Amino acid sequence: MKKNITVIKGDGIGPEIVTEAMKVLDKVGAKYGHEFSFHEILAGGCAIDACGKCLPEQSLDACLTGDSVLLGAVGGPKWDGVDKNNRPERALLGIRSAMGLYANLRPAKLFSQLRAASPLNPEIVARGIDFVVVRELIGGVYFGAHDTVEENGEKRATDIMVYSEHEIERIARTAFETARKRRGKVTSVDKANVLDTSRLWREVVTRVSREYPDVAYSDMLVDNTAMQIVKDPSQFDVIVTENMFGDILSDEASMITGSIGMIPSSSLGETKNGMYEPIHGSAPDIAGQNLANPIGTILSGAMMLKYSFDLDEESAEIERAVSAVLDAGYRTADIMDEGGRRVSCSEMGDLICSEIG
Ligand code: NAD
Ligand code: IPM
Ligand code: MN
Repeated sequence: MKKNITVIKGDGIGPEIVTEAMKVLDKVGAKYGHEFSFHEILAGGCAIDACGKCLPEQSLDACLTGDSVLLGAVGGPKWDGVDKNNRPERALLGIRSAMGLYANLRPAKLFSQLRAASPLNPEIVARGIDFVVVRELIGGVYFGAHDTVEENGEKRATDIMVYSEHEIERIARTAFETARKRRGKVTSVDKANVLDTSRLWREVVTRVSREYPDVAYSDMLVDNTAMQIVKDPSQFDVIVTENMFGDILSDEASMITGSIGMIPSSSLGETKNGMYEPIHGSAPDIAGQNLANPIGTILSGAMMLKYSFDLDEESAEIERAVSAVLDAGYRTADIMDEGGRRVSCSEMGDLICSEIG
């Protein structure tokens, strides 16, 4: 199989972690006889530095015409002063929206080797952590009108949250279909006691749930969910929620599995051309030091093979290699369990490659 992968290394630790994921994809390609050709493009802060625009047209074109996109992370304090419509993060939102990537899957799965790295009580951890946050990605407050005006000598800012029925319906379907392939349970998370968008969300998800009588369905308010994720994460299988709640809850969910550096994501719309990225950001505090954990990005590559290219065996091979390297005790600095063998970002990539063999 031959596939064209558009690569956005981005900013901060982005180039370090993406380089490792590319090495791993090359290795799997060589083992199974596939050719993955990488087309590197600029987006984010590095694109602002190079040409003044966070998302040059040719970069977006490459995303739209390739077979899939692999992204590291964008942004950093260097670009905090940039016009809000040209911030590095706008590049990411622009790509997600232009590609129609409404369904963002963020699996929060604890590798059993990392039990001691979870900050949760061992008795809670022993019950298991294996759920997926299905985050709506191209609607809500992220894509409503944003404005700041000056009135009566003070500034006033507004961000509008909008959801239409069809946007909720399609992400609800993704959640129920996902649950069917897992443990058959969907928790829809909202703030229906306060927000109109959430009341509509609940109404639509409840309606869609009737098409899936084989899936157990319930609602939960977002504040309670934030608490339940640390009280007893084993109760969750699929969490479906709107854009901003999903952003926040997935960072929380990542940490209980040992580190935010471990968690991959897939973003898909109506076609197979999706975007794959770790859920974390550009980690400016550790950038350029070869300290970052590349596993979230490497596992994003595994998700790409599975969801965009239907290469299930190759995808599982990457997951197996990651698990074997963790079994052998290797850890990057972000994983806080005792007694692990500390390795750098590039050493972790090399170890995973040699495991693929
Ligand atoms: P962050 O996720 O970049 O970092 C939070 C903390 O987690 C930091 O201490 C960092 O060192 C650590 N961390 C993150 N990823 C790690 C990894 N792979 N290995 C080891 N440690 C890791 O969040 P932030 O500091 O709030 O944001 C920094 C910048 O990244 C901001 O500009 C933000 O907008 C951007 N951001 C981008 C994306 C993206 O491109 N998808 C996602 C989130 C944040
Ligand atoms: C993420 C990030 C982005 C988001 C930012 C950088 C726009 O936090 O992918 O989780 O909020 O979606
Ligand atoms: Mn985030």
